[in-house]
Amino acid sequence: MKILAFESTCDETAVAVVEDGRKILSDQIFSQADLHAVYGGVVPEIASRCHVESISILARRAIEAAGITKQDIDAVAVSYAPGLIGAVLVGVNFAKSAALALGVPLIPVHHIRGHMAANYLAYPELEPPYLCLAISGGNTLLVDVRDYTDMKIIGATRDDAAGECFDKTARVLGLPYPGGRPIDQLSQGGDDTRYSFPIGHVDGNPYDMSFSGLKTAVINLVHNAEQKGEEIDRAALAASFTKAVSDSLVPRTMQAAAELGRDRIVIAGGVAANSRIRADFQKAAAEHGYQLFIPPLKLCGDNGAMIGAQAYYEYLAGVRAGSDLNAYATMEL
Ligand code: KG4
Repeated sequence: MKILAFESTCDETAVAVVEDGRKILSDQIFSQADLHAVYGGVVPEIASRCHVESISILARRAIEAAGITKQDIDAVAVSYAPGLIGAVLVGVNFAKSAALALGVPLIPVHHIRGHMAANYLAYPELEPPYLCLAISGGNTLLVDVRDYTDMKIIGATRDDAAGECFDKTARVLGLPYPGGRPIDQLSQGGDDTRYSFPIGHVDGNPYDMSFSGLKTAVINLVHNAEQKGEEIDRAALAASFTKAVSDSLVPRTMQAAAELGRDRIVIAGGVAANSRIRADFQKAAAEHGYQLFIPPLKLCGDNGAMIGAQAYYEYLAGVRAGSDLNAYATMEL
């Protein structure tokens, strides 16, 4: 089954063709990051307008690159929530029109479910059940994935997402947006014991997380140093910060896997590209005897293929949208 899949929830316009949820036939992505970098973050209206300009070009290219014709498409899928509402609307509206014009079913896909499904594209052997940590720019969730479409959130950030924390830390260090990769690069070789940062704990649920205290600690440290005219060891700061994020994620995930009796751990989302976090998860999973799945770097960030992958399983579960499908800024997983 060939699915034409659309992703436009933030600052990537992406269209892919995916076969049977596992094989990427084409994956076209236009990243707007450079357009937003000058503002230090995503400007919603610019994002929406850019999606409008590029989505039909990418759709044509995705079909061509897959070596198929429009008639070969069996269904259309779209990431319909959560995200910047004006941006999501562009993808939803285009996908609805495409499904109508092609006379094929329309499958709505939750953006975070898509991130998780990126792993199905990279690992043919991966099947539920598993425990998933989804770490992106807007969400940080620990999810018990019982089946392809049956999942339960067991923990979440109570405030900032992990990616947001990387982006804010990068901003205070004068690094470009999005800040995750520049912090990753800066931290290489930095002394991660040089600065001590708090690891967020919240009352009530051991699997809930908090990153706002860490963010504030970094901002205060940088501002205090500036006021006193003190030099900051930037590489050490980036490394110490990344260690604090990783220490917040890795032990919690290991503990949750043990409690739920899951022996497979899946990591998903843009922050899964972080070299330190990947290495820490690899080490911890090996120590605990868990199988670990982390997407290759190109499938960590937003892409259309991940939407096509999850859409296949949503389709098998009977999920369909009508032509009244709307876009949503927030949505339960
Ligand atoms: O999943 P994603 O592409 O978009 C959302 O769905 O939110 O995640 C984007 C986030 C940004 O906050 C970005 O700074 C972060 O992923 N990111 C990283 C790295 N690469 C991207 N964070 C840490 N280390 C990286 N190497």
